[in-house]
Amino acid sequence: MATAIVGVGNIGSAVSRHLVAGGEPVVLAAKDQSRAQALAEQLGPLARAASVEDAISGADAVVFAVWLDTMTELIPANADLLTDKVVIDPSNPIGFDASGQMTRTLPDGESAGSVVAGLLPAGAHYVKAFGTLGADALAASAHRNPLAVLFYATDDEAAATTIERLIRAAGFEPWKAGGVAAAGRIEAPSGDLHQYGFNGEVVDIDRARSATAGSGA
Ligand SMILES: NC(=O)c1ccc[n+]([C@@H]2O[C@H](COP(=O)([O-])OP(=O)(O)OC[C@H]3O[C@@H](n4cnc5c(N)ncnc54)[C@H](OP(=O)(O)O)[C@@H]3O)[C@@H](O)[C@H]2O)c1
Repeated sequence: MATAIVGVGNIGSAVSRHLVAGGEPVVLAAKDQSRAQALAEQLGPLARAASVEDAISGADAVVFAVWLDTMTELIPANADLLTDKVVIDPSNPIGFDASGQMTRTLPDGESAGSVVAGLLPAGAHYVKAFGTLGADALAASAHRNPLAVLFYATDDEAAATTIERLIRAAGFEPWKAGGVAAAGRIEAPSGDLHQYGFNGEVVDIDRARSATAGSGA
């Protein structure tokens, strides 16, 4: 089965490119379907474009590579389709003010992960992942030696198995930060396990292991 990528902007296009390079089929959707179609044509036979509904229906895992506000609309609108799917959430609770400064869009202590997980139907398998690096670093860091880590957070074993496969296919090392309660640790702007928390550094597994030691991850 394919992985649906809903949103083909900075994160969605980088994830799609890496997954296809790793042999994973993807089905791409966007608000403007011509953008999904154009990316699918660039990526070749493992990629196709579809509507959001058809992309979700034709996949066993769905990456919602859209802003948190968009996710709070798309998930309830497609809730029936998400039962039994692995739902992968890269969102960060960030916005930008009039002067371009990054702002936090949720109260301190509330993670985007807890918001998104709370929107899902019973039977969906939630995991926070693919948002722990800035988009440029994500695009540039696949297949490094040593491999760059992508942290994930989930309480769900099926979701953990799927995200570990996808992260490896994308050319990274998966590392569990914890359950959904730990999602805030891997989110910008203030998560200690987000790239910003490492002062912009893209870390490998030794650094990830020491950063999560003692946290029960
Ligand atoms: N950018 C980063 O460095 C970064 C890093 C980590 C995590 N993230 C997170 O990743 C997510 C995506 O960020 P991004 O930078 O990739 O955003 P982006 O470049 O603005 O792309 C957003 C995508 O969402 C699509 N979209 C918007 N409304 C939609 C709808 N109703 N149905 C389907 N698709 C819709 C857009 O489609 P169109 O192209 O047709 O408009 C676009 O492809 C955000 O939650 C962000 O917090 C971003």
